[in-house]
Amino acid sequence: MMERPANVPATIVETDTVQIAREIATVAMEYRCSVHLIGRAGTGKSTALWHVARELGGSYCEVSQATKSTKGLFELLLDSIGRRTGKKYLSDIADEVYYYFQPRETVSEEGWTYTPRLLVVDEVQTLEASAFRELLRVQEKCEVALVLAGNAERLAGRAKDANTWEQIESRISIQRPLPGPSRRDCDLIGSAYNVEGKDAYAALAAFGMRTNLRDLTKLLQFAAGLTGGTGIRLKHLEDALRLRKPKSDVLKLLRTVAA
Ligand SMILES: Nc1ncnc2c1ncn2[C@@H]1O[C@H](COP(=O)(O)OP(=O)(O)O)[C@@H](O)[C@H]1O
Ligand SMILES: [Mg+2]
Repeated sequence: MMERPANVPATIVETDTVQIAREIATVAMEYRCSVHLIGRAGTGKSTALWHVARELGGSYCEVSQATKSTKGLFELLLDSIGRRTGKKYLSDIADEVYYYFQPRETVSEEGWTYTPRLLVVDEVQTLEASAFRELLRVQEKCEVALVLAGNAERLAGRAKDANTWEQIESRISIQRPLPGPSRRDCDLIGSAYNVEGKDAYAALAAFGMRTNLRDLTKLLQFAAGLTGGTGIRLKHLEDALRLRKPKSDVLKLLRTVAA
């Protein structure tokens, strides 16, 4: 079982991002291609993709400063499928990657079938250009269903190689920008946190649509602590917001836009 990153909640609601992530991962499996989900921080990419990867029998990993090189990335890929490599040289590690990421063979009455591997690589904007190219090569050679995610920020050191990025981008089959939180997303998360009252839902949606799911969830966690165990009402949201950001005009964030 894949380890769940700290920022990914154990239970989730079906936000628009979750639905898009599932749809796009299914397309990647069907066509054995690469897709790139692009969205700002807090749109719920990591949460959605971790759960979708698990649901569809794939693996998930997140690039960090420690794994942005080709070697680091390859070790990360192997780790995501529970293979800790004992190899030291890049070429040996690469051989293992190409071996383990081949399509899985299964035999049935109709004979052998090949199921592609579903692989999610999150925070791809952190990758070095050369590592990114190697990842796309693995995808092409092994016909991996590759789902990439990250924000719109481009590769490290992009100033000197805008062309490099364009070339990399052109090799990715599908690019899909993610929307910010919708009214429906805010309502779903609100009800998971036991929010009560029309006014509270309206304020929550106003806040979520101005910020992102991360800020929205933080606000709800804080508000839940102020209720003493009852549902979250508008007053709790206001108090939570004032405590979190003691600025005179902070309540503006909860105000609904006049129709
Ligand atoms: N589908 C969801 N269900 C419940 N909470 C969610 C969901 N999506 C996001 N969140 C909340 O928002 C926070 C930020 O989401 P995250 O997936 O880390 O965003 P991103 O990867 O786009 O920066 C999460 O830690 C979680 O608390
Ligand atoms: Mg993330």
